[in-house]
Amino acid sequence: MRFFNTVVAAALGIVMCSACGPKGTLEGEWYGLKGKEVVTVKFNPDQTIEANDGAMMTFKAPYSLNSEKDPMEIDINGAVQGMSMAGIMRMNADNTLDINLAVNVPGISEGRPTTFEAPQGMAAMASLCLKLSKDKKAIMAKLGPKPKISPAVKVAWERNARLGSGINLNAVVDGNRHPGYERDAPLGDDEIKSIADAGFQSVRLDVCWVKHCAAEAPYTIDQEFFDKVDHIINECFKNGLAVSIDQHYYPYINMDGECTDAEYEENFNRLDCLWSQLAEHYKDYSNDLLFFDLLNEPNMRLGADRWNETVAMLTKTIRKTNPDRTLLVLTPNLGQYWTLKQLELPADEWNIIVQFHYYMPHLFTHHGLSYAMAGESDMTTWEGSEEDKASIRKDFDTCTAWMKENGRPLNLGEYGAVNTVDPASRARYIGFICTEAKSRGFSTHLWGYRECFQICNEDKNSPDYGKWLQPVLDAMKLK
Ligand code: GLC
Repeated sequence: MRFFNTVVAAALGIVMCSACGPKGTLEGEWYGLKGKEVVTVKFNPDQTIEANDGAMMTFKAPYSLNSEKDPMEIDINGAVQGMSMAGIMRMNADNTLDINLAVNVPGISEGRPTTFEAPQGMAAMASLCLKLSKDKKAIMAKLGPKPKISPAVKVAWERNARLGSGINLNAVVDGNRHPGYERDAPLGDDEIKSIADAGFQSVRLDVCWVKHCAAEAPYTIDQEFFDKVDHIINECFKNGLAVSIDQHYYPYINMDGECTDAEYEENFNRLDCLWSQLAEHYKDYSNDLLFFDLLNEPNMRLGADRWNETVAMLTKTIRKTNPDRTLLVLTPNLGQYWTLKQLELPADEWNIIVQFHYYMPHLFTHHGLSYAMAGESDMTTWEGSEEDKASIRKDFDTCTAWMKENGRPLNLGEYGAVNTVDPASRARYIGFICTEAKSRGFSTHLWGYRECFQICNEDKNSPDYGKWLQPVLDAMKLK
């Protein structure tokens, strides 16, 4: 096989040289643009290919090429997280190289792409589709000038520091999705005090507002429900906890694509109506203590462009009544860190904290959870070896670099591990993420206070009711 590859590579060199002139060889570094991201692709003499977009599509792996096909076919072994890739390539007369690679992820992208058109939706995540050139300067020029950072961003940094290390108050006002946890589990005032005493500085209050509004436009929110949420917010304030309220489990455009009575397009209007009411209702609440988190995990179907448009729409609505409110905005495609560069915030909007979620290694953090495609996982430990930590630090480096370049603060709005994994590993993992994020200046919200990610006993019949998992708290070094 190796021999075959070498022969093909040598032959390819000749084919390309004759077709495209002396510069037209494959070997060496190529550059391309993925949105606002410069991606490097390198073909090495030892028959390996390297790609680097600073995040998801960063790999080095052996490849084989069939140059007799038009376009050429390329196969890469064990590229992204051990998965193979199949692709097509075409060398152009102007010394550019078109490439379209797809990771083999069952149900998302399967088989070799047939055109050089970028895939949409879920498949976009698992693909690298680029026009490459060896002329780095020309590619950089296409990027345009670096973003100009406004001094007005200072307030967002201050408020992000105020959020500090926090926790998600999930499933305290709504029922929720995890089997066995479907009920609404009301939160006692004593619990809010206990959260503050544990050393948390803020909470992210996860609310499914859409369940508590009228069925028709303008989707009036139920006053009794408002009372319930207001009570929690005021109790948090009393205990010195800042609060960020989100829109969780929003049909069609958040994590799930579940059915709803409103059509897809009408969902955007309804979301806007909900924020309009929330903004009006909370406009006199302290700007230092109350934050608005626009939408939990905008889904892949929404895509980056539609999410960017939605952020612009909601920001405009909220600003009518809340000119100084700090907003939290997730990155596209479920709040991944690798989509940071796809987020485009409205120009002149600096009172924004950008949020991402982080659950790597996924098979450990979501062990046994079938909704997250980890039902079959047997990964129950996280040793915290240098290698384990390095892989997380590398991902966080991408975030730090983005934060510096864009001058905007970051919030790690969800991280955590399910309670079926090895308890010591769980404490180690949560502690590492919490302290590592803090050292980089990210505010954090652990997922979560309730359900199977809980770190505090919520079983009223248990003698341990209300007790924290002390090893986890200790590892987080909150105080
Ligand atoms: C997201 C989901 C929530 C889930 C969590 C961890 O926030 O909305 O349901 O528990 O991620 O997977």
